[in-house]
Amino acid sequence: MLLGIESSCDETAASVVARDGRVHASVIASQIPVHARYGGVVPELASRNHLVAMGPTIASALSEAGVTAQDLEGVAVTAGPGLAGCLLVGLQAAKALAWSLGVPLVPVNHIHAHVHAPFLKDDAWDGAPTLRFPHVALAVSGGHTSLMRVEAPGVVRTLGQTLDDAAGEAFDKLAKLMGLPYPGGVQIDQLAIDAAANGLTDAPLPRPLLNKGLDFSFSGLKTAARQRWEALPPEARDRTAQARLAAAAQAAIVDVLVEKSVAACRIEGLRQLVLAGGVACNTGLRAGIAAAARRHRLEAFVTPARYCSDNAAMVAGLGQALLSAGHGLTGSALLSADIFVTQRTGPTPAGGTAR
Ligand code: KG4
Ligand code: ZN
Repeated sequence: MLLGIESSCDETAASVVARDGRVHASVIASQIPVHARYGGVVPELASRNHLVAMGPTIASALSEAGVTAQDLEGVAVTAGPGLAGCLLVGLQAAKALAWSLGVPLVPVNHIHAHVHAPFLKDDAWDGAPTLRFPHVALAVSGGHTSLMRVEAPGVVRTLGQTLDDAAGEAFDKLAKLMGLPYPGGVQIDQLAIDAAANGLTDAPLPRPLLNKGLDFSFSGLKTAARQRWEALPPEARDRTAQARLAAAAQAAIVDVLVEKSVAACRIEGLRQLVLAGGVACNTGLRAGIAAAARRHRLEAFVTPARYCSDNAAMVAGLGQALLSAGHGLTGSALLSADIFVTQRTGPTPAGGTAR
C-alpha cells in the first residue's frame, strides 16, 4: 500500500493505492467554497487551508482504506508543478510521514500523474489493461494543456502545449465573463448540454492554430467570445444567450483539442491516446475524442471523471510505478527533497530536485 498526497492547487487530497493500481481510498477536501467569492484560487488562502485540511484528510484516507500508517510501503506526493506555497504543505507532510515511518518518499510530477490515471482500478473501472507504452496523452486542466508522448510511467516528451491560456482557464474565464460562479468549466459544459437539447446555436468562434503544429492558443478565442458577449445589450444577456455562447466556445475548444490529439498520434505513429486532467470531465470533449478515435481507428483511454480533476489516487498510482522502477528517495535524499516548479521530462532523479 502506498499513500498519495496532492496539494498543488485548491484540492487537499490523500489516497491509498495498492501495487496493482487498485484504489483503496481517495479522499478529496475541496476548497471551492473558500475561493468562489474571489472568482479564482487565492494562493495564500489555499496554502493555509491545506495546512488545516492535510492531517484530517490523510487520516480519513487511511481509515477508509482500513490500514494504518505502519502498513504503508511508501509515500508519494505531488512535488510540482503547482502553487509553491501549496506544494510545500503536501511535500512537508509527505517527508515527515515517510521519514518517521522509515519508508521511501516518491516525488511525483502532477501532469505525469494526471496522464497515468487511466491505469488506476476500482470496483467500477478495470483500469487500462491494453494500454501500452509509448502512447500519446492529452492533459487538459486549469493550469495546463499539453500533448505528450509518454515513454514510461513519469517519462514524457512534450509534443505541444499552450502558448497562453490553458484550456481550463479559457473555460473558467468565459464563465466569469458571463457572470457564472467559479469554477466555470462545469457550468459551460451544462450550458452547452442545454443548448444542444434546445436546438440553440450560434455562429462558430475561431479555432486558433488549427492545422498549425501541435501547440495551442486560446487567448484569441477568449477575446472573440468576450467581444460577442459585450456586443449584446445587457437585457439580452440571459440564460439562452449564455447557452449559445457556451456551446460555440466549447465546440471551438473541443475541435482544437481533438484535431491536435489525432495529429499527434499520426505524427508519432501511435494508436493509443489518453485523455486526462480536469477538463477531461467535459462531456463534449469526451464525446469528441471517442468519435475521433472511431473515425481514425485510434484507441482512446478516457480517464473516469473521478480521477480527472485533481485527486491523490493518480499521485499514488504513478508513485507505485515509480517506486517499483527504483525512484523512491530515502535517507539524506528524502530529507533534501524539494519542490520543482517546471515540468520534468524524465523520472525523478535520485537525489532530489529537477528543474
Ligand atoms: O486538473 P484540475 O482539477 O486542476 C488543475 O490541475 O488545474 O482541472 C481544473 C479545471 C478547471 O479549469 C475546471 O473549470 C475544469 O478543469 N473543468 C471543466 C469541467 N470540469 C472541470 N472544464 C470543462 N468542462 C467540465 N465539465
Ligand atoms: Zn490537475
